[in-house]
Amino acid sequence: MATEPERTASLADKYFDRFYASAGPGIDKTLTPYRKEMYLDVRGDVLEIGSGHGSTFKYLKTDQITKLVCLEPNVAMHPTLVAAAKEAGFDKEKGNFVLFAKPGEALAPTTTTTSAPPFGQYDFIISNLVLCTVGNVDVVLDSIHVSLKPGGTFVFLEHHAAEKGTWTRFFQEWTNPAWKIFADGCNLNRDLEQDIKKRWNGDEQLTCEELPEPLLNSLLPLFRGRAVNPKM
Ligand SMILES: C[S@@+](CC[C@H](N)C(=O)[O-])C[C@H]1O[C@@H](n2cnc3c(N)ncnc32)[C@H](O)[C@@H]1O
Repeated sequence: MATEPERTASLADKYFDRFYASAGPGIDKTLTPYRKEMYLDVRGDVLEIGSGHGSTFKYLKTDQITKLVCLEPNVAMHPTLVAAAKEAGFDKEKGNFVLFAKPGEALAPTTTTTSAPPFGQYDFIISNLVLCTVGNVDVVLDSIHVSLKPGGTFVFLEHHAAEKGTWTRFFQEWTNPAWKIFADGCNLNRDLEQDIKKRWNGDEQLTCEELPEPLLNSLLPLFRGRAVNPKM
């Protein structure tokens, strides 16, 4: 393991590890056409928040990545994550892989713990189906923003709330309390596209597109995009 786990896995961690071992491959299959083309230019120092079982690693171009730093707070997922990293050519022994048992919020520049991952130095930051779950979306987006080098790119693929007033949104709001319990704190009703647009504006470049194929019929509408920090 790249970094000593800072705590042992809770029952909830173990449950989600098993849950995602069965749900993750199907999700990845649906997302493969998008994931295949999203990471072609990802290079240099790369950070992924909420790597889970490392489903994105196989799409990364290992030879153009100097270092892959992963934040995954669920330590029960680490063995599968580390195995997927090795399979894709990322390995602590090779010096191109580091794993922290930390949430995205730990990137915040105000974090004082010595084991916090370094911030302010990434060429690319990746997030896949994670912003629905983080404790504080604004803190995580601010942290990503300041952790990118000038000209650095945030690459995301997330699910979000349907438009207000639609049946899907009504159903999302109605099922969210129970959904959260079974899906590791995942929220169906976050306006994440708006949150990202709020954070990257002005001189920065932002592209967002709705994906044609939602997950679980229409319950999880998907979008993907890129946000690029200014070059200076
Ligand atoms: C739905 S899974 C997605 C995993 C992986 N990114 C994928 O696409 O297969 C969400 C992941 O986010 C992690 N997570 C939860 N809260 C987080 C936080 N605050 N910061 C970073 N990751 C978090 C979970 O442990 C879980 O591995």
